[in-house]
Amino acid sequence: MKTFFLTGISRGIGYEIFKLLGNDNHFIGITRNKIRFLQNFPLNISKNNAEILELDFDINVNESWSEYVERINIIVDNIDNNIDVFINNSGIAHFAPFDEFGYDIIKSEYFVNTIAPTILLKKVVSKMIEQKKGLIINISSIATQKTFENASIYSASKNSIIGLTKSLREEVRKHNLKIVNLFLGATNTEIWDERIRKEKNHLMISPENVANIIREIIKMSEYNDLMVEDITIKPKYGDL
Ligand SMILES: NC(=O)c1ccc[n+]([C@@H]2O[C@H](COP(=O)([O-])OP(=O)(O)OC[C@H]3O[C@@H](n4cnc5c(N)ncnc54)[C@H](OP(=O)(O)O)[C@@H]3O)[C@@H](O)[C@H]2O)c1
Repeated sequence: MKTFFLTGISRGIGYEIFKLLGNDNHFIGITRNKIRFLQNFPLNISKNNAEILELDFDINVNESWSEYVERINIIVDNIDNNIDVFINNSGIAHFAPFDEFGYDIIKSEYFVNTIAPTILLKKVVSKMIEQKKGLIINISSIATQKTFENASIYSASKNSIIGLTKSLREEVRKHNLKIVNLFLGATNTEIWDERIRKEKNHLMISPENVANIIREIIKMSEYNDLMVEDITIKPKYGDL
């Protein structure tokens, strides 16, 4: 049994990862709304296997930077278990021409996709260095590899973490830490608006299969003499 620390456990890809692996492992999962998540708790999983924590990655208007950092950090400080697998999964995406983006959307997208994961990673990595082992899986997007119109802020916020994970990977190899970036193509979750999901769901990957891929990545990462580093998974018929 491994201990997973998973952000964005409530919906989409995170929820499917929990549904697939939650019975054989212990999960510490983050959502903004614990009550809503508990109402939707997967029937196949024992409630004893999960610790659900409430945390909003967006900064609050009344919050100072140091209060924000403290609010995020306290989550990892309160984790007593070793963390075997950290999955950086929470994310938001807004698609619009760059000159039309509101500053609040820009702020949220950077806080959720870049800044909160950076603060969490700092703590998780320190803990894993002490443990002398650990696996980090960063759910990234093909929007960091390929240029899409109207995806400027999403692409920038996700690319920032790629810069971080790639450099960090070189630092932490010697500590027996492994970092995997999953560059994922269109997947049928609520991150897409309803209209696109209706029209194009048959061209998207199912979140269940993304969870299956994550399970395989974890299995492959168990080989002691190699590191799975970057994996690209796209829909069978290509990008949307
Ligand atoms: N779906 C795709 O096509 C696709 C493709 C490539 C990469 N990805 C990446 O996959 C990851 C998961 O996305 P998804 O498709 O599963 O989307 P989703 O169904 O919309 O789920 C997003 C998750 O992020 C969490 N989240 C959103 N805002 C948050 C905030 N302010 N604070 C804390 N958590 C927050 C949500 O939790 P709560 O609602 O509980 O707060 C939810 O669990 C994202 O990083 C996304 O960039 C998705």
